[in-house]
Amino acid sequence: MSHSINIRIAQQTSYDVYTGRNIWDKVIAYFESHYSGRKLFIAIDSRVDKLHGQKVQEECKRYFQSCHVLQVPEGEESKSIQQWSLLQDKLLENGVERSTPLLAVGGGVTGDVAGFAAASVLRGIPLVHMPTSLLAMVDSSIGGKTGINHSVGKNLIGAFYQPDAVFTDIEFLETLDRREWIGGLAEMLKYAAIRKPALFDQLEQAVEAGFKPSDQWLALIRESAQIKADIVQEDVHESGKRTWLNFGHTFAHALEKWAGYGNISHGEAVFTGMIAATYFSKMLGSSVEEIRFEPFKPLYNINVPGDETIPELIQVMQSDKKVKEQTIRLVLLKKWGAPYLKKCENELALHDSWKAAFDALR
Ligand SMILES: NC(=O)c1ccc[n+]([C@@H]2O[C@H](COP(=O)([O-])OP(=O)(O)OC[C@H]3O[C@@H](n4cnc5c(N)ncnc54)[C@H](O)[C@@H]3O)[C@@H](O)[C@H]2O)c1
Repeated sequence: MSHSINIRIAQQTSYDVYTGRNIWDKVIAYFESHYSGRKLFIAIDSRVDKLHGQKVQEECKRYFQSCHVLQVPEGEESKSIQQWSLLQDKLLENGVERSTPLLAVGGGVTGDVAGFAAASVLRGIPLVHMPTSLLAMVDSSIGGKTGINHSVGKNLIGAFYQPDAVFTDIEFLETLDRREWIGGLAEMLKYAAIRKPALFDQLEQAVEAGFKPSDQWLALIRESAQIKADIVQEDVHESGKRTWLNFGHTFAHALEKWAGYGNISHGEAVFTGMIAATYFSKMLGSSVEEIRFEPFKPLYNINVPGDETIPELIQVMQSDKKVKEQTIRLVLLKKWGAPYLKKCENELALHDSWKAAFDALR
């Protein structure tokens, strides 16, 4: 007699991303209706803490009697095993319970490390993201990827862990540096390229109007967050469509790694990579033109390497974690808004794409 045990893993739970300006009333109402305990942990980026920490605590104390602040030092170095371990210590030593929520306030770094801490302590506590950088608002706070870096590579340790909610308050952007705006903008340009080409013109207008938390930017942030949400919902564990979000990124990761992390910003590398991927697409017969990125070029101050570095860059690409069976896989465009995944065995085409991007940026 055969016998089977059916194990049903719950389908993806759903959660809301709230966006607006000064949305604290909404945040507090959410806390009141979702958490019965009166204790909260706040993991907050150290710079954001200096600028907004007092306000964040005052607001949270409208509902929570105890708000325990865990500062996450600003910078990518905080996405480390040590920082993750420190967060575990602080959570456990300060009486975290299975139902105690953790509010992650900061950019992608804080969201990723605090998210992973929430995913792992007591096998998972409630997590709420409050993204404060443009990149975190349009990208990292959505989709449930959490994690830390390892000396072998970036983002190699982590978990898919969905938050209960995301609260995106553009008021935080008031204090965001221009360089960080431009980093987030690169991901928004990516959404224009892979999903909604009309965003190119809208982003151009918003940039002209200036980097400030305006209604214009709010609308674009909402639209970008929606695109990311749509794509991750279609592919929660990154096996298919979610790879489209890597448009320009295979080139970008190689450039960042080659230059040494920090010497070229992620946004600058993504911008360069998108031009290269667009050129590659054009070589395969697509109607897309790199010129589409031209209006944004003056924003990205890229120290373009010499063409003699291109073979090294291609070698770095071949060691990317997204390389399967030694073949580079690129996200290319059939036309604007229509991405596809392509195995790339043609080194010459890669070389020409790098060169086209470098020429465009010189
Ligand atoms: N989980 C995901 O799906 C996902 C997606 C994309 C990127 N990421 C990760 O996100 C990270 C990058 O995120 P990031 O660009 O937000 O970096 P970040 O968290 O380092 O923030 C960038 C800088 O902006 C500062 N900052 C943030 N908000 C501010 C504010 N309101 N005012 C003033 N300064 C502010 C921070 O202190 C920091 O110096 C990377 O580690 C990347 O791997 C994750």
